[in-house]
Amino acid sequence: MSAASILVVDDEPLQRWAVREHLQAWGYLVTEADSAGTALASYRAQSPDLVLLDLRLGADSGLDVLRDLREIDPSAAVIMVTAHGDLEDAVGGFRLGLTDFFKKPLDFEALQVALKYRFDAMRLRQEVDHERKARAGDAEIVGTSPAITAAIRVMHKVAASEATTVLLQGESGTGKDLFSKALHEHSARRDGPFIAVNCAALPDALLESELFGHERGAFTDAKAMKKGVFELADGGTLYLDEIGELKPALQAKLLRVLETMTFRRVGGLRDITVDTRVVAASNRNLEQGVQSGEFRSDLYYRLGVIQVHLPPLRERRDDLPLLVEHFVSRLAVKLRKRPMTVAPATLEAFSRYDWPGNIRELRNALERSIILEDGDAITPEYLPPQITAPTPGPTKPVSAFVLSASGTSLEKMEESLVRQAIQMADGNQTKAAKLLDISRDALRYKLKKLGLLGSEEE
Ligand SMILES: Nc1ncnc2c1ncn2[C@@H]1O[C@H](COP(=O)(O)OP(=O)(O)O)[C@@H](O)[C@H]1O
Ligand SMILES: [Mg+2]
Repeated sequence: MSAASILVVDDEPLQRWAVREHLQAWGYLVTEADSAGTALASYRAQSPDLVLLDLRLGADSGLDVLRDLREIDPSAAVIMVTAHGDLEDAVGGFRLGLTDFFKKPLDFEALQVALKYRFDAMRLRQEVDHERKARAGDAEIVGTSPAITAAIRVMHKVAASEATTVLLQGESGTGKDLFSKALHEHSARRDGPFIAVNCAALPDALLESELFGHERGAFTDAKAMKKGVFELADGGTLYLDEIGELKPALQAKLLRVLETMTFRRVGGLRDITVDTRVVAASNRNLEQGVQSGEFRSDLYYRLGVIQVHLPPLRERRDDLPLLVEHFVSRLAVKLRKRPMTVAPATLEAFSRYDWPGNIRELRNALERSIILEDGDAITPEYLPPQITAPTPGPTKPVSAFVLSASGTSLEKMEESLVRQAIQMADGNQTKAAKLLDISRDALRYKLKKLGLLGSEEE
């Protein structure tokens, strides 16, 4: 923030002069106004960082000015200056969102401190906002395929609800980490901590104390008390990755904790209650784990109150062009390269490939190419060999825009697009028709042909 600007509103020239002298000496930029009208005009023209407002402005009332300022800018910071006996008006001012008030004659020392405090807080908030925007940008989820749009919709709904547990399922690299962070950033908990723990990374005993903490002396190595992640993430979000790897004893304990949000540290006697949202993730199919008896069914149902399934990339190839564009522009900046384009042959190879490593594999392939390419386009030359190797694949799933050498079925493509449009439009036929740039009647004809029109709708 450069020098902060303050608008001084007072009808007495001498008073304005004294205040201006002080404010300028403290390094602030000062503008002045002597009436309600000039004050509002000046606020509109300059949008100062703060207004120092006299309560009695000749015939005008400072309270009216305050009310009008609020209408121009609901977040305007206003400090009111009142003579003795005007305290009741000051109370009215606070109801109108007054920041602070000072009595006349002004105690300049106190005013200096109050202003400094106010501007430090503003600067801090701007930094936090900036930081948050940067982080939220990192958590940007790309994709317009029906599956990913549905997942994003659920994510936003869950973010808005208080503490529901969420289970993210999907192969490795499908975006589970990304979704868990986005969920946190979009929730009211965003200012609280976000902590991620990989349940597969630690042996059982260590994992228990990682999750719930331990008291000093709880075991031989416990030289000091240590808080667990459930406690550290209080007020925020705890991301438990690879939950399917949890051993039975810990599964039982986790279930109890999820039900009451109360636990004891290892070796502890005191109950600790926290407000932590748990987002669990698994790249194994937990339902299968339940069937084979490896995963407790009651824990599965508790975790999976809300489930989000992140589909593998090969099942949503339509997102490929968008993802490629997203990563290429991001990575070029990160790797300090010129903006790069993607050669058609590269997109062609991408649309044919199966992507067992999903979006992570795509990102890594692009990163590698961007580093190695000398030209302005990403050609297949530096792609990992498995991606460029021709796969004598059986049936190629329909891709929306990139026609590969092996061709595609126009009929299937049309069906896929119609289904996507209906899904995207939440079943609204008018909207879906618009997405496809056809008339609603033409859409209904196609739906009927595909057997997608319920008989009661015909
Ligand atoms: N829909 C998406 N849009 C943009 N980037 C994505 C998307 N899904 C995943 N990614 C990126 O792909 C990489 C792998 O995702 P990640 O969340 O770590 O997957 P997982 O936890 O499921 O293994 C990360 O760099 C992530 O930012
Ligand atoms: Mg992950």
